[in-house]
Amino acid sequence: MNKSRAASAYHYSFNRTRQIAAASALVITTFFLTRLFSPPCSIPHLARPSYHVHFANDGSLVWPEAGFGPQLSLKIYVYDEAEIDGLDLLMRGRDGNIAADSCVKGQWGTQVKIHRMLLNSRFRTLNKEEADLFFVPTYVKCVRMMGGLNDKEINQTYVKVLSQMPYFRLSSGRNHIFVFPSGAGAHLFRSWAVYLNRSIILTPEGDRTDKRGTSAFDTWKDVIIPGNVDDAMTGKMETIVEPLPLSKRKYLANFLGRAQGKVGRLKLIELAKMYPDKLECPELKFSGPDKLGRKEYFQHLRNSKFCLAPRGESSWTLRFYESFFVECVPVILSDEVELPFQDVIDYTQISIKWPSSNIGIQLLNYLESIPEKNIEELIARGRLVRCLFAYAAETEPCSAMHGILWELQRKVRRFHQSRETFWLHNQTIVNRNMIEFQNWKPPMPSP
Ligand SMILES: *[C@@H]1O[C@H](CO)[C@@H](O)[C@H](O)[C@H]1NC(C)=O
Ligand SMILES: *[C@@H]1O[C@H](CO)[C@@H](O)[C@H](O)[C@H]1NC(C)=O
Ligand SMILES: *[C@@H]1O[C@H](CO)[C@@H](O)[C@H](O)[C@H]1NC(C)=O
Repeated sequence: MNKSRAASAYHYSFNRTRQIAAASALVITTFFLTRLFSPPCSIPHLARPSYHVHFANDGSLVWPEAGFGPQLSLKIYVYDEAEIDGLDLLMRGRDGNIAADSCVKGQWGTQVKIHRMLLNSRFRTLNKEEADLFFVPTYVKCVRMMGGLNDKEINQTYVKVLSQMPYFRLSSGRNHIFVFPSGAGAHLFRSWAVYLNRSIILTPEGDRTDKRGTSAFDTWKDVIIPGNVDDAMTGKMETIVEPLPLSKRKYLANFLGRAQGKVGRLKLIELAKMYPDKLECPELKFSGPDKLGRKEYFQHLRNSKFCLAPRGESSWTLRFYESFFVECVPVILSDEVELPFQDVIDYTQISIKWPSSNIGIQLLNYLESIPEKNIEELIARGRLVRCLFAYAAETEPCSAMHGILWELQRKVRRFHQSRETFWLHNQTIVNRNMIEFQNWKPPMPSP
């Protein structure tokens, strides 16, 4: 990105913040669509015709002209396990008995889903010479959990596998894609920093500083992907739980997860004991009667206006994505979170991010003060874009896979945020001290 483009992008988002605030009262869906997904036409210095994703009448994605234009033109080579000695171990374990079908389930299922979808993709090439990108299929999160390989074996096997790839060597891995579907990110491969520090990593996790001291995620080269929401919630055919009308919801907010000894989560559990009518937050255990069943879980989740998404073992949480499918407004309480497809989704329009250091009655009071109308608007906008959080087939008009493919092609980011920026229901940007963006005074603290 050259300097003037960066500067205009900056002015653009600054102006846009104010424009959105002014426009947020107008809510007819069709009007909203043009507002959300195309820029207000009154910004003279914005030369580009369109900067946001929008949707055609049949629901298919219309990608903005910015970046590399509205045409996807990608050639991705997918490595075959028979081709590289050791690759099968990273997919099925040392005994070869871990089934891909069991790895495709749950929040980490992206490790298998993305591979399967690329195998069937119209952007797949069987010719390495013409490939723009190379996909290396590994299911190590699953393999490790099921005892198929230990950390040492994973590390050694990766090194062995990579040492067999001339194309990896050719680019220092720059055009090679790896999926790391869990909070551990690329740390699952102990020597990632040596080998994969230039490769494209697809992961839901933008931060892993709490235990490792360093994050494997790089904002510029890596791609944040949505977590794998249960197909039974995203599916077009059968949905196990339907959203409730706002007026039928029993709680203001909920958090339905294990505390895992995390400060924010423990605070929520305490808060729920004091305000049981407002906040549903049972102390859940990993197994046994205190664990919610799948259907029951979604039935609880839909029974609040706001779904709190506090930091757990790492900064991303599946709850954020699930919220859109039960239509509660996600409230991110995870300062370091990185969100997918920031080029084209304005998260201030569909969610709230609140400082995790500010969890307390003030959060409940704030949520309670938000007019129903604003909540309905946040939900309506989330309903439009949530198809980007569902791993539907590439042949569907809209799928997480489209988002990933576009990200792979175009890496100019639109949405700006950091651990020190937050936003409220009305798209007001605030800092940790809740000071609104236009009142931030220089010198700005370093990010
Ligand atoms: C990973 O494996 C390579 C090759 O066997 C080895 O050189 C390296 O020290 C290992 N890394 C760690 C952190 O154990
Ligand atoms: C990537 O790995 C190489 C080889 O170990 C190292 O020289 C380089 O500093 C690393 N780069 C980053 C950004 O960590
Ligand atoms: C947005 O909401 C916050 C908190 O309720 C409030 O302080 C602020 O004035 C609002 N901003 C706008 C532009 O409505």
